[in-house]
This record gives sequence, C-alpha cells and structure tokens, in this order.
Amino acid sequence: MKYLFQLGHQPQISAAEITAVLSLKHPNIKTLAHLRTCALKHQEAFLILEIDQQLNCADLIGTLGGTIKIARQIETSIPAHLNQTQPTGKIIFSLPDKTLAIKIKKELKQSGRSVRYIEPKNTATILHNNLVELGGDLTIINNEIFATEAIQPFEEFSQRDYGRPGSDDRSGMLPPKLARILINLSQTPKDATLLDPFCGSGTILTEASTLGYTNLIGSDISEKAIKNTKENLDWLAKQFNNLTIQQSSTTKLFQSDAAKLSNKLQPHSINTIITEPLLGKPLTGRENKEQLRSQADELAKLYIDSFKAFAKILKPDGVVLFIIPKFKFKNEWVEITCVEEIKKTGFAAVPFEILGSSPVEHLAYHRPNQHLARTIWRFVKNR
Ligand SMILES: C[S@@+](CC[C@H](N)C(=O)[O-])C[C@H]1O[C@@H](n2cnc3c(N)ncnc32)[C@H](O)[C@@H]1O
Repeated sequence: MKYLFQLGHQPQISAAEITAVLSLKHPNIKTLAHLRTCALKHQEAFLILEIDQQLNCADLIGTLGGTIKIARQIETSIPAHLNQTQPTGKIIFSLPDKTLAIKIKKELKQSGRSVRYIEPKNTATILHNNLVELGGDLTIINNEIFATEAIQPFEEFSQRDYGRPGSDDRSGMLPPKLARILINLSQTPKDATLLDPFCGSGTILTEASTLGYTNLIGSDISEKAIKNTKENLDWLAKQFNNLTIQQSSTTKLFQSDAAKLSNKLQPHSINTIITEPLLGKPLTGRENKEQLRSQADELAKLYIDSFKAFAKILKPDGVVLFIIPKFKFKNEWVEITCVEEIKKTGFAAVPFEILGSSPVEHLAYHRPNQHLARTIWRFVKNR
C-alpha cells in the first residue's frame, strides 16, 4: 500500500516525526520503499511510503503535529474512483493539475454526471467541502494517484494556540504543533512520567495531555509561568470537555530553577524530559556579534547546569528532548557550544531516523526572517 504524507513547513522535522510515530504505533511495520519528493509548483514537500499494512490515517493525523494531510494510493482511474465514492448527486473534486481536472470534468459530464471542480488551496478548502468524506481530494505524483484520507485538525491547533487564556507574551510561546512534534520525537509511552522543567505557559504539557499522557510534571523559575500553565490546563480540560485531558489539579506544577530540580524531585523518578528552555532575549536583528556570543555563553552554562540536575532525577535510559537555539548574525549563525559538555554530564546524543533519508544528529527549525533558529536534540541518559 502506498501512502502520501504532505509535510509541514519544516519537511525534515515532519519526516522525522512520521518515522518516530510509525515505529511506535506499528512496531512491525515494513517500509517497502520510501521516496521524498517536492512538487515545486506549490512548494510542497511530500513523503511517499510503500508499506505492508493499512494505516489508520485519522488516528495518525490526530497524533502528528507536522503533517498537513495523508492520502492513500488509488488503483483505478480518477473518473472511476469518483463514481465509486460519490455514486449519486453532484460529484465534487479537487486536483492541483487544472488542465487535467477540466478534462476529467468533461468526461464525467459526458457520462451524465453533474460535477463541480474545486481548485485546491489549503486544508480549509478540503474541510469545508467535505472532500475527505467524498474521496474527492486528489493528488498525482509520478503518475500515481492519491486520495486524501485525513487532514490536520488545523482549527483545533489554532484554538489551542490563540484561544488559551494563560499568556500575555506571545513571543515566548512554543507553537503547539512544534510541542507535539517534540513529544512524538521522544517516543515516550503514554504511561511514562513526563517533565517540562521550563514549562512557560505550558504548551508541552497541554499538548501531552491532548495526546493522552497522564503523568505530567511542570516546573519553571517564574511564578507567573506556573499560574499561566495552571490556567491553560484548566481551560483545555473545560474547552474540550474531555475527562481524559489532565487538569492542573492532576498535574504536578511547582516553581523551581531547572538547575536545582534535584532538590524538588526524587532521584531516578522521571522517564522523559521534553522542553524548550530559556532561549535568551527576543532578538531585533540589530545585536552585534559580541552581544550574541555573550548570550550564547550564558545559555550554555544554564543548559549544562540543568543537565547535571536532569542526570540525577531521570531513570536509567531516561530521554531528554531539548531545544538549543542559535542566533543569526548577518550571514552566519552564532551557536551555543554545549553539546560536548552535556554529554559529559552522563548523556549520549541519539540521532533521529528519517524515512527517505539518512539519520541526523539534530533537527533544525527555522522560519524565514527569524533571527533565531531552534535545533532539536535527543539525549539518552547513560546506564
Ligand atoms: C522559552 S520559555 C518556554 C516556553 C514554553 N515552552 C511555552 O510554550 O510557553 C522559557 C521559560 O523558561 C523559564 N526559565 C528561565 N530561566 C529558568 C531557569 N533557570 N529554570 C527554570 N525555568 C527558567 C522562563 O520563566 C520561561 O517561562
């Protein structure tokens, strides 16, 4: 069976997330072939997987943070497929190749069907025209036809991103989709104890909660951050009216310097730490190189001190998913050199597997015009 994954705006990260989630959900899955391809016209990146079993696309899209849609290959012609999925009424379909779409529309009309072609724009077009249910959203790549089976629940993400009460400073907030990607990259089982020691407004904890994690701990040096996290967890539980979503009363939240966590948590009590730490002052792009270097050195110290505490509270084989920023100066990057020191505190960096390409030691998340890029690392505590 062939599946097409339309990747988000950070395709390498999306592909690494798919790889991590598939190997956790389907440990026996065999990928017979994989191909990464880029449809240049729309600047879209796709990952095509040929696998030996059927996927539950709705469940997968409900887990992933970095995939826009999942489609399955169809073996018939497009008119035959549409006649089969929409046997009565007006046929509605969407296809990026407009010339071909018009030809298909003509053919279907000649056979007596009434037809509406919708130009594909985004997932909102697919959602509002029920194209998933109708089997009507089609993509052709390398002469193979794919019908969309699931689309990213973008309205829910945006509700969680913009609707939550506990935040007065958007600049420090991790996008919920990226929070979810970090959780998935950690490959942590649902019953594990998961800690965010720089929890801020609680994005990692709220996303973990929506994914079904129940043993959550959040800490932050700021009292306001703990208050925001509490508000956001309670808002989420109420908003989605879902008893499986953790409230602040069932999540352990407390104020602490990350570097002093071993005073607050039992030794070897945590399975996984997932965090976006302090990233430094928001950048304007007018900083000189010395300022950026000095910020990088301060952060290196904080990160290394934090890992010394992580080494004490994590169980053997405990995992840390950690963001290390780098700062743009003209055409170069000022990097934080701390990975070798982090390893000396008792950790190994574990590369990310990526179907369709070689493993990488870290992943990079950067949006054009941003002065800061996030690099994502996975460390495992040495036994
Ligand atoms: C980039 S924000 C985290 C954003 C968070 N992931 C979110 O989405 O809201 C960094 C957080 O680190 C906290 N912080 C700064 N220094 C700290 C330290 N030494 N120990 C623990 N937390 C610290 C700040 O109060 C801030 O809430």
